[in-house]
Amino acid sequence: MKKLALAVVVLVLSVAVGLFVAGKPRQQAWTSGWASDQALTFPKDFYFGTATAAQQIESQSPSDWTAFELDVIANKRTEHGSAPGVAKPGHIAALDQFSQAVRTRKTDYDQRYAEDFQAAREVLGNNAYRFSFEWSRLFPRADMTRPDPAAIAFYQGVLDSLKAQGLTPFATLFHFSSPAWLWTEQDGQRGWERADAQQQWQRYVDAVLEHFGGQIQHWTTLNEPMVFLNAGYLDGVFPPLETRADPAATGPALAAMARAHAYAYHAIKQHAQAQATSSGQPVQETWVGITQHTRAFEPWRNWHPLERFAARQIDEIFIWDLLDALESGELTLTGTGFSEQIEGLASTQDYVGINYYGRFYVEVDMANPAKPIIHSHDPATDQWVNDLGWALYPKGFGDVLQTAYERYNKPIYVLENGTADQADNDVRRQYLLVTHLAEMAHAMQQGVPLKGYFHWSLTDNFEWAEGFTARFGLFALDYANDFKRTARPSASLYGRIAREGLQPALLQSLNDLQPPRQP
Ligand code: FCB
Repeated sequence: MKKLALAVVVLVLSVAVGLFVAGKPRQQAWTSGWASDQALTFPKDFYFGTATAAQQIESQSPSDWTAFELDVIANKRTEHGSAPGVAKPGHIAALDQFSQAVRTRKTDYDQRYAEDFQAAREVLGNNAYRFSFEWSRLFPRADMTRPDPAAIAFYQGVLDSLKAQGLTPFATLFHFSSPAWLWTEQDGQRGWERADAQQQWQRYVDAVLEHFGGQIQHWTTLNEPMVFLNAGYLDGVFPPLETRADPAATGPALAAMARAHAYAYHAIKQHAQAQATSSGQPVQETWVGITQHTRAFEPWRNWHPLERFAARQIDEIFIWDLLDALESGELTLTGTGFSEQIEGLASTQDYVGINYYGRFYVEVDMANPAKPIIHSHDPATDQWVNDLGWALYPKGFGDVLQTAYERYNKPIYVLENGTADQADNDVRRQYLLVTHLAEMAHAMQQGVPLKGYFHWSLTDNFEWAEGFTARFGLFALDYANDFKRTARPSASLYGRIAREGLQPALLQSLNDLQPPRQP
């Protein structure tokens, strides 16, 4: 009886607080106070770059994604989802509308990376570049004990070219794609859940380190593992296209990825140590971590206690649980009952990697409270919405950076931030650049140790289940015209900010940017 009374009091109180909060308008989109008459500048050693991933820009290698892409074409599964930005499970949007040359060569990066890097330096004023190694390019077949020499030569060419342009390499080891052969069933398990997955991963990581270890100091072992798990094991929109009913069922795959991270972390450190011992040189400094997809998760209805609770839960599980595990060694998935101690995982985060893409709203349907509905924008309040229906929300970026600093007290790299805007006059991307870089500068003034910013992405590219339809590039790609690159207005804008910081005139010009009318 007492418990019931308490529950009623808590419910009444939280609705009362909710109503009070709801009485206020939603948080403004950006932090007030920085749009001042003072320039916001970045330190000389700050890294400005763009971010890319192998499967999205390189010629197809025999990965799980490539197998999916071929299957989609063979079986005509190229439909769009129910709304922009909502993928249809098992489909890649409009993939058949792009030529075979485009589907296999993606952005023709294999032929043009040198010219792309030159543009990154000259137009964007960049001094760094994020890319991923493609596991299936190095090990296209399961029986290989040594990596493919052609793949080694390709990545060496990439690294040489980056060096020639003065771009510091930031390397990712797993960015959603892996060899197709890893997904053949063994003892009823596929991919990360196979008993030999760690051994296969170790062979890949060792090969990368043997050939490139001495040339790279910044490593991201895993890109957005939670996106990979949600899209691949719950929503069925990324390979392995599974739709498991219970989020706890993704635990074993996540634990395997955490073990893979731990291995790579220690292997990178040992490699640097061994090189120093054999050369008699000081140990090369390395920075190793993962990067998480972050959003500002907010209740759909501010007054709704369950929605406030659900938004907080999702924030924990989606952003922070895994980063916490890299500190403590214990992987616990909030609200699922899944928990596992992972050997070697504690203290394997040299920096916090943040990818940030805007605001999500969490709605709880009382008929099915266990499965909250996610809205990517609120038509009533969000003015700035991208081609995928995602609300731009700079203030949430500042908040995430602040939280990451408060939780871990480590250097922070923004390893992705960008938006899908295919308009020639990409006003939304310009708005995103100015506001998000200002949020960053503002956070740095508050003491947040930010070391670099990587815009997603350099050119338009293959955007996973959205295929080639979502355009994230600072440079537009003309897929019907031999992969021709054209700088969007935001390209020179990014260059201006990288060189001069955010000057007052630029900040004031933000007021002249008007969001395009929503269709
Ligand atoms: C991130 C992915 C990246 C790209 C951007 C738009 O979630 O890491 O590959 O697709 O979204």
